[in-house]
Amino acid sequence: MDNRYIGVFDSGVGGLTFVKELMKNLPDENIVYFGDTGRVPYGTRSADTIKKYAIDDMNFLMTHDIKAVVIACGTVSTVAIPTLRKIYNIPIIGVVDASAIAAVNATENNKIGIIGTIGTIKSGKYEQAIKEISPMMETASVACPMFVPLVENNMADTEASYLIAKDYLKPFVDMGVDTLILGCTHYPLLSNTIRKIMGDHVKLIDAGAATAHFVSEYLKNKNMLSETREKEQYKFFVSDSVENFINVADKFLGRKIDDSVQKIDIEIF
Ligand code: DGL
Repeated sequence: MDNRYIGVFDSGVGGLTFVKELMKNLPDENIVYFGDTGRVPYGTRSADTIKKYAIDDMNFLMTHDIKAVVIACGTVSTVAIPTLRKIYNIPIIGVVDASAIAAVNATENNKIGIIGTIGTIKSGKYEQAIKEISPMMETASVACPMFVPLVENNMADTEASYLIAKDYLKPFVDMGVDTLILGCTHYPLLSNTIRKIMGDHVKLIDAGAATAHFVSEYLKNKNMLSETREKEQYKFFVSDSVENFINVADKFLGRKIDDSVQKIDIEIF
C-alpha cells in the first residue's frame, strides 16, 4: 500500500486522456498533474529542448510527495525517458510500451499503423517497441503536426479535420492496417474523425487508456496501490492561463475541474 500521489505530466491538456482512464480504473489514487500549457507544443521542438522541458516538469513534480511519474505525453515518452531515468530515482512510466503491447495483442493481420507528433515519429520508438515484442509485425508511421492545434482549437469534429486526417491517414488505408496507435495523448479526441476514414474494423489504440491499464497492473503487482484518498485527491498545475485550461479540460477529462487548478512558473524548477 502506498498512498502517495502519482505524478503525471504532459505538454498541455492531452495527458488528461490518460488521467481520465486512470481515475476510472483506480478511483482511490491521488494524482498531481502538470500541463505545460505555456510551452505547448513539444512535438515540433528539437530533442534537446524536449529533454530540457521534461527535466523542468520532473523537477516540479518531485517537489510533491509522489510514488511514481507517468509521462502522459507521446513526445516526451519517445524522446526523453532514458535521460530522465538516469537523473531521477523514481519509477518513470511512459506511454510507448503499453501502447505497443495493446497493438500487438489487437492486430489480426499483423499490420500496425502509428500516428504521433513530429518528434515522436522521428524517434521511431513505437516501431522499435512493437518489433521487440514481435519482429513479424509490419509497421508504418506518419507524423500529424496539424492534429494538436485542431484539438486544442476545438475543431476535432469538423470538415477541416476530416480533410486533413484523410490526407495523413491515406498510407494506412492503402496498406490495410487493422490497428492504429494514437501515439499522442491529444489524438483520442479525434477518434470519431479517424474512425470515419479508417472504418469501424480498424482498432484504435488510445495511448493514454493503454497506459492507464498498464499503470494499474504495475501498482497492483508492486503492492503500491493507494487505499486512502487525500483531501485534495486531484491537484492540477499549469504554466499558462488557468481559465483556458479549465475551459478545455472537461472535454479531455470527461468531468469539470475548477478550484483544483493552479498556475506555476515552470522556468524556476
Ligand atoms: N500530448 C503530446 C503528446 O502526446 C503532444 C502535444 C505536443 O506536441 O506538445 O505527444
